[in-house]
Amino acid sequence: MSRIPGRDYRQQLAEEEPWRQQFPYHWDADEAVTRREFVRFAVLTSGALFVGTVVLGILGKLDSRKRTKRQLIMKVGELEPGHAKYFHYPNSGDQAMILRLNDGSYAAYSQKCTHLSCAVYYQPKENTLHCPCHEGYFDPVTGEPTAGPPQRRLPRITVEEQGGNLYATEMNP
Ligand code: FES
Repeated sequence: MSRIPGRDYRQQLAEEEPWRQQFPYHWDADEAVTRREFVRFAVLTSGALFVGTVVLGILGKLDSRKRTKRQLIMKVGELEPGHAKYFHYPNSGDQAMILRLNDGSYAAYSQKCTHLSCAVYYQPKENTLHCPCHEGYFDPVTGEPTAGPPQRRLPRITVEEQGGNLYATEMNP
């Protein structure tokens, strides 16, 4: 396109090629602005992703810490073998369970399934822990997953006996 002397070049372009009205940037200016904006966008986006990753990493570390708290669960012998008692530990919103296994020993876990956090229940006849949401199963002795989607063991609660009582003392993620 030839430039007409004495006439606004942009207006001339817009009249001859209508698409220029929708994208009214001169080639040189367009390139300079785009490059600068692109670099700014890339730097801001990278920075935001970096900060987000660091924050998520810190939150994950805080959540996976051992939590120590001494709390009475029940009297020794209150549960018969093959039964479970459900309680809250370490906080009032955290569901937990203590099992009296068929051999008379005790094991305690978080009741929260490691797949998608549904509640897990003891099934003594089948000698298993069952999550009904997606048919997940755990070993009641170790807390390790044995079938279904869960890949990680249940967080174990340390149980101590003192003065005829059983206490939860620590949550081990
Ligand atoms: S939430 Fe337990 S198996 Fe999915």
